[in-house]
Amino acid sequence: MGYSRAEIIEMLCAEGAELDALLARATAVRRDTVGESVYLRGLIEYSNVCRKNCLYCGIRRDNRTVDRYTLTRDEVLDAARHAWISRYGSVVLQGGEVTAPQHIGTIASLIREIKALSNGELGITLSLGEQSADTYRLWREAGAHRYLLRIESSTPSLYARIHPADGLHRYNERLRALHDLRATGYQVGTGVMIGLPGQSVEHLADDLLFMRDTDIDMCGMGPYVECDRTPLADAGGSPGPLAERFTMTLRMIAVLRLLMPDINIAATTALQAIDPEGRLRGIGAGANVIMPNITPDAVRGSYRLYNGKPLSLDSRVIERCVAYGVWGDSLRFKKR
Ligand code: 5AD
Ligand code: SF4
Repeated sequence: MGYSRAEIIEMLCAEGAELDALLARATAVRRDTVGESVYLRGLIEYSNVCRKNCLYCGIRRDNRTVDRYTLTRDEVLDAARHAWISRYGSVVLQGGEVTAPQHIGTIASLIREIKALSNGELGITLSLGEQSADTYRLWREAGAHRYLLRIESSTPSLYARIHPADGLHRYNERLRALHDLRATGYQVGTGVMIGLPGQSVEHLADDLLFMRDTDIDMCGMGPYVECDRTPLADAGGSPGPLAERFTMTLRMIAVLRLLMPDINIAATTALQAIDPEGRLRGIGAGANVIMPNITPDAVRGSYRLYNGKPLSLDSRVIERCVAYGVWGDSLRFKKR
């Protein structure tokens, strides 16, 4: 829709009654475009091994205090079967960025096996970082059909402040990967962190415009939450109170729903890390996707990207609206 940058900035500053009105408008737009349904994606945290060193992330390569794990084939397939039997429409296979050929092949096999065990019924979303166009194609042909890759911040200078300058964390490479994903036929999701040190409301407005200009199909964004033993948290430089990051995330979800009425927007786990009702409140701001964690309990504590990451789903996830047994594809993608 035709909102200007100035209008977006104004909405991102809404307080009190204005904020309530913004959230109400966004949920009305959601209802009138994608409907009342909330879609579930069973989240499988496949591995916390990562070749990257993002300055904000708890499982960055140089964090020696992390117990590294990779789920076995049976663990992944059991989790997927659980999702299928529970009639979740799809699963998300998420993990650190690994580009070794063996890993690429293992993922392709897992995708095929998840498809096979569910008679092709489970949709598969991947969130496995930057990969080559060939790898994206291999995984697409194996049966995955959505991919999540957050831009983290669409402002190159801010991107550079939160990633090491070692040649492995290049903004342009991120753009290349997003472009390749689209060209390969995936439904493409991106997102940003909200409340980063040095981030302004103008940066956030530009993030929303980036999503609109990139014509994304899905979005997952959440508050930045400091993680112990990470350079960004250790550097201090207060990014402001968590409560404000939480509220800003609700505003971002609402404004994105107004800008792009027909995309899928996730109410992310990081919201829940700040407020026990976090994901519910994300739905109340215009989101329509929730990703219950179905990672085996034994390793769950090791996939800690930030402090206070909740380990299990709140049971009261607006049961009445959950759409079971459907993929819940992005309406925008279908129209494309
Ligand atoms: N706070 C919030 N989100 C984080 N992520 C990583 N570290 C943090 C943090 N400290 C998010 C990134 C990444 C996703 C998998 O987790 O946006 O894309
Ligand atoms: Fe790896 Fe993703 Fe964490 Fe960066 S944010 S260190 S790519 S898991």
